[in-house]
Amino acid sequence: MDIIRSLDTMHALALGWRARGKKVGFVPTMGYLHRGHTTLIELMRQRCEILVVSIYVNPLQFGPNEDLSRYPRDPEGDSRRCEGAGCDILFMPDNLYPPDFRTTVSVGAVTTRWEGAERPTHFQGVATVVCRLFGLVQPTAAMFGEKDFQQFTVLQSMARDLAMGIEIVPGPLVRDHDGLALSSRNVYLSPIERHRALSLHRALFLIRDHTSTSAAERLAAGRAVLDCDGLDYLAIVDPDTLEPVDHIDRPLRAIAAARYGRTRLLDNVALEP
Ligand code: PAF
Repeated sequence: MDIIRSLDTMHALALGWRARGKKVGFVPTMGYLHRGHTTLIELMRQRCEILVVSIYVNPLQFGPNEDLSRYPRDPEGDSRRCEGAGCDILFMPDNLYPPDFRTTVSVGAVTTRWEGAERPTHFQGVATVVCRLFGLVQPTAAMFGEKDFQQFTVLQSMARDLAMGIEIVPGPLVRDHDGLALSSRNVYLSPIERHRALSLHRALFLIRDHTSTSAAERLAAGRAVLDCDGLDYLAIVDPDTLEPVDHIDRPLRAIAAARYGRTRLLDNVALEP
């Protein structure tokens, strides 16, 4: 595995692969990698000839009250995990934006609800950095975990609307042995909070397995078992528009964000009619 820090080196290499018609797979990350990330890297490995992973903690997607400097980092551990998962190129730029950078990418209505309502500039920051990374890495396919389901939908919309010609591949949400969705934020949970947080996936699984065709009935059943310090949202939505639905009559997603102490957890599950 090679580690590349220079934007020019990365871009020159990528243009060479493109000229030779290589299948380039890409897994963008912000580092502090766990089994959820390495699963994505291993799955992408099987779909491409050259596999690039990026690690860049993107300032544009942090809000004014979110502390960028406290974001956990572990470059040595990350580099070992990337190599072990089959990565060819680890792209770790120190800075991704030149001083005269002036473009922002805004994806529209799918960015305004749910996470977008909590963090108004977040998805613009995500779309902008991913667009720039796509330009530098020139992938033929990129994988984003379904753990951040809204992010996946936003990036899929961006690639489709802008005819980027990049296949956006969903990566599975990976759960711990007890069902908690893997997230870098889980380390902040106290043992009691972690135990209570198990009710989040239980509520979602109950919503998934409930037999009612009414979204309101299923959500009420889920809410009844949920134990948290604050529920930001629990909803059943169309997976493409992220608009809430009334009836379970097609493949849908149940999505949730709940707070445990100072930690905010996201989870979601696919629903079949
Ligand atoms: O999911 C993430 O880690 C980030 O939002 C991403 C897609 C790498 C963009 O910075």
